[in-house]
Amino acid sequence: MPRLIRSALARAGVADPERVSSGVDVVGDIAIVRLDGFSQKEKRKIGEALIAEMKTVKVVMEQEGGIGGEYRLRTLKHVAGEKRTLTTHRENGCSFKVDVVKTYFSPRLSTERLRVAGEVGSGERVLNMFAGVGPFSIVIAKLAGARVTSCELNAYAARLHEENDRVNKVQGLVDVVNADAAELPSLVKAKFDRVLMPHPSEADRFLPAALELAKKRGRLVYYRHVLGSDEGEAAEELRKELKRLLPTGSKASLRRVRDVGPRWIEMAAEIRLPV
Ligand SMILES: C[S@@+](CC[C@H](N)C(=O)[O-])C[C@H]1O[C@@H](n2cnc3c(N)ncnc32)[C@H](O)[C@@H]1O
Repeated sequence: MPRLIRSALARAGVADPERVSSGVDVVGDIAIVRLDGFSQKEKRKIGEALIAEMKTVKVVMEQEGGIGGEYRLRTLKHVAGEKRTLTTHRENGCSFKVDVVKTYFSPRLSTERLRVAGEVGSGERVLNMFAGVGPFSIVIAKLAGARVTSCELNAYAARLHEENDRVNKVQGLVDVVNADAAELPSLVKAKFDRVLMPHPSEADRFLPAALELAKKRGRLVYYRHVLGSDEGEAAEELRKELKRLLPTGSKASLRRVRDVGPRWIEMAAEIRLPV
């Protein structure tokens, strides 16, 4: 747990502040915390302490369980501060309207998004199959000047993505398609230099569509949650999956993105397709 938060909790008289999980996510001015095992009174005290100490935080919400459902949403309960779920999050020089209950957003992927954007050339056509409110696509359009097609199943997230395109002045470079990514081959005529697949719990299901939409010698950025006690073991598992699913002659370089649970690692595969 960051020292700032630990000392705020101790000052507020929260007994045993170490019990507050280290995973505090701050999205815009909303702090999301896990508070399993605390009483309602203690939870409110912790929420108020976070608001007092973290000057940018106006709302504290408690996350119950993991991220789930088709839209990959959190289950959140209000703990302290203003009663709202909509906020504006700033990262990588862009600004994103996010609803923390109705749309997916993780501030922990900010570096990953910047890294991917840094690899894109200005002349590329990029497809993001699982775009959310736009944090990969908009940073790519803004920093690389590339044209991006974003696909998102959640209609509300797609609407916020379009608003975010306008706020960040990339509406001329980004198209948002509100659809199931599996349907994209029948909806989109273009072929893409780079296809992003940031849906690590299910990306394998969409590889056939991605392969149809990618150009020859195109690139895929494929994310996957993989079981493994370390990066080496996870990479071995992912290699097996890719061998089964990719056309012969594909080349993949694998890396760890982050730990997502006990023995679960989010891995990225940067794939170069054959001719
Ligand atoms: C893990 S989130 C990533 C969102 C975004 N790339 C980000 O970093 O914030 C996966 C996203 O895919 C969307 N999604 C789930 N199934 C989908 C599908 N079949 N077609 C298109 N989008 C889908 C979810 O609603 C969610 O916004």
